[in-house]
This record gives sequence, C-alpha cells and structure tokens, in this order.
Amino acid sequence: MTRIIHIADLHFGAEEPRLVETLAEEIEDLKPDVVVAAGDLTQYGRRREFAAAREFFDGLSAPVVASPGNHDVPYGNMFSRLLSPWARFNHHMQGRVEARYADDRVAIETFETARGAQLRLDWSLGRARPDQAREIAGRLESAAPGDGVRIVACHHPLIAPGGPKGRAKTKFGAEAADVFLAGGADMVLSGHLHTAFAIPDGREGHKCWFVGVSTALSHRTREEPAGFNLIDIDHGEGRLAVYAADDDRRFSVFEEKSLDWARA
Ligand SMILES: [Fe+2]
Repeated sequence: MTRIIHIADLHFGAEEPRLVETLAEEIEDLKPDVVVAAGDLTQYGRRREFAAAREFFDGLSAPVVASPGNHDVPYGNMFSRLLSPWARFNHHMQGRVEARYADDRVAIETFETARGAQLRLDWSLGRARPDQAREIAGRLESAAPGDGVRIVACHHPLIAPGGPKGRAKTKFGAEAADVFLAGGADMVLSGHLHTAFAIPDGREGHKCWFVGVSTALSHRTREEPAGFNLIDIDHGEGRLAVYAADDDRRFSVFEEKSLDWARA
C-alpha cells in the first residue's frame, strides 16, 4: 500500500501555531510514504515564512513533494515577481522538497499553475499550460505503467465544485484537465480554495479524480476548518479520508470515500 498525505495552503506567516504542532504529530502517527504539499506554503513569500515551512518539513519523516502557490511569490517585490518568482521557494526547499515521487504503485508529478505576474487583474488566479500538462502526462505514463496510479499535484484547481467561477477561474484549467484525462492521469491534487472535495471526471472507461483540500494550518479558514486528506492506494484501488481540525486543534476523520478508477 502507498499512503499519501495531501496538504495545501499552509500559509506560514498566518499559521495557527497550535495546529502546526498537532498536524506534524498527526502526519508522523499516520506514517505516510509521501506528503504532497499543493502550494501556498507561505503567506507573503517572505524568507522567514519559507524558513518556517522548511522547518516544518524537516520535522517530518516522509519525503515531501511540493508545487508553489500564488502566495509563494515575493509579494511586494515586482522585480523578483517578474524575473524569478520561485527563487525563494527553490532556495528554501532545496534538498528537502522534490518535484516528483514514484514507487511500485504510484507516480506523482507537480504541475505549476501559479504565476509571478499575469496579463490580467487578479494575479492570484491560476494559469495552466496544456503543453506542459501533455509533457507531465507522458512522464507519469512511463513512471507508472500498467495499473500504477498517476497523480498530478498543482496549486490551483483544474476542476472545482461549482465550476470555473471566482477563485476557481484557472485559465486553461479545463483544457489541462482534458489533457490529463486523455493522457491517463488518475488524480489531480490541488489547493487554493481551502475546500475539501473529490470530483470524478471520466470518459471511455477511464476516470480521473480532481481532489481539493482545506487549508492545513491557516487561521484564515473560509467556510471549513483546517484539515488534510489521507489517500491510501493499494492494487490500483484508492481510499480517501478527509481529516478536519476541531476547536482543540485535534484532527479526526470527517468523511471517507472510495476512489475507483474504472479502468477499461
Ligand atoms: Fe492560493
């Protein structure tokens, strides 16, 4: 069995300190094979926020796969936003965080949807590149042949509950989702919305699950309490457990779902 913990929107800089401790304990207790952090590790892309995120990851035993989110750009520095938006992310995560993971049962690849700057008013929204999605789908196919489960991790949702509205307006998100679906991806793990969901989309005997997660540590929770997803994969079958934090900052299972891929 491969056990994945899916977290996102840690927002160090606006984190709830008591959640940091209980989340780290919970992750260690659950003994995942890999932790997927789907972006927004920080609040404003500050060095001290990245250092706190790094310290959190250093305290975990499992490998960490992470993709940056829109909050991981140096917020106030236009020059860096344009020229090297991920320099701080890369600098602080180097040596601890990977862009991919693979074992006998699963392969995970990160897909960048956050941008340092964009030709539209709201730069926090995602932008997907279908050509990059094609490349990633190809890499997943070779890394997880046959029954292997192919997983994409990105910050912005490609498919979201309620459709591509508001904060879920990821430019070319639906096109990238189509590429992943056609390319045989089984799951797309995202963050950004601070909402847990699992939406299947399928065609021609193949199903891909689009999975969102609540914020891991932020006290800026929207409608949902902080939480994370636990995904167990065995013999090409999946089980998703959504964990949520209570008022005492303890995490427990809030909802469970089986993930079938109905491969043809
Ligand atoms: Fe975000």
